Amino acid sequence: MHKETVDFIQNLYGTKDFLPLHEPRFIGNEKKYVNEAIDSTFVSSVGKFVTQFEEKLAVYVGAKYAIATTNGTSALHIGLKLVGVDEHSEVITQPLTFIATTNAIAYCNAQPVFVDVDKETLGLSAEKLEHFLEKETFINEKHECINKSTKKVIKACVPMHTFGHPCRIEDIVKVCDKYGITVVEDAAESLGSYYKGQHTGTFGKVGVFSFNGNKVITTGGGGMIVTDDEALAKRAKHITTTAKVPHPYEYIHDEVGYNYRLTNLAAALGVAQMESLPLFVEKQRALADKYKDFFEASSLDFIVEPKESLSNYWLNAVVLKDREARDAFLKYTNENGIMTRAIWRLMNKLEMFKDAQCGDLSNAQWLEDRVVNISSSVVL
Ligand SMILES: Cc1ncc(COP(=O)(O)O)c(C=O)c1O
Repeated sequence: MHKETVDFIQNLYGTKDFLPLHEPRFIGNEKKYVNEAIDSTFVSSVGKFVTQFEEKLAVYVGAKYAIATTNGTSALHIGLKLVGVDEHSEVITQPLTFIATTNAIAYCNAQPVFVDVDKETLGLSAEKLEHFLEKETFINEKHECINKSTKKVIKACVPMHTFGHPCRIEDIVKVCDKYGITVVEDAAESLGSYYKGQHTGTFGKVGVFSFNGNKVITTGGGGMIVTDDEALAKRAKHITTTAKVPHPYEYIHDEVGYNYRLTNLAAALGVAQMESLPLFVEKQRALADKYKDFFEASSLDFIVEPKESLSNYWLNAVVLKDREARDAFLKYTNENGIMTRAIWRLMNKLEMFKDAQCGDLSNAQWLEDRVVNISSSVVL
């Protein structure tokens, strides 16, 4: 079966050369806009492309405000700071995620708490979240959610839309609202994905996207914070631009800020990539359809978009029988010119986060043992 899979993927891409997991595609105005940015001399964090990119993305996802940052990790870091996460806080997230989600929590000197995912969505489980909060927390007189065992405030929750498949974000927000917890949505992987017709990243107080080279669209490196809250948007822009107070000729900074602003050069690429985004999503979904048909007749399960959602199918994935089968598949495909990757090792197993509090993580463990990503570059 592994040979048939390799043959099928090589046929899809029309090549027997080495196939990376997700290559970027530059098919539009990328060079034109980057050259324009160079000609304008505005190559750093000021320039028309930064504003254009922010405006285009805000319109596309249906958010009131968008603030461009150096990458998705910095966007998450600032997103958490915006909602008040600090050294006294705890933040609930899923153990099955890319390291950046948990690193951003650590950058705020806050403690991560890991709650399980759903097998269907691969994202945070609303039911397990509610169960954890019921059992492990109480609400104090200030309507803060207090962790019974640490007495710390659980300030925020970061659900993530794994591989572009929307998690049950509406239910998650409902549970969090009940407990006074603010949702910061890690939508790094889900540009172009919708839950019940609403774009991912717009359900929480703050949402975050990534434009790393392997994402649906790329700016080389880049990120975006979206929110409907004007005050938060203003503060996001302020602290991502070194907290500089506007002044015609003096340098005045009113707090410790960050140099997290996206460059105009990168944003020029972003504006061009936004023009191709609808086509990329259409092509990704067509590719997923082909995989679905192919794997229906095989012993591997192809992961499809969850109910009531429309996925960008950023990274395609299959489920193997067990860990041994997973490892054999990874070995065979990588040795035969197809780059495949195991899903992330659970965050709570990494040295830095091994002491974090965890709920029952049986679904996440089940998925870690079985899920493999397969070739997902856009086929034009
Ligand atoms: C789930 C998730 N969160 C955050 C990030 C961080 O984005 P970046 O690489 O742009 O810092 C990524 C991807 O890279 C990601 O997949």
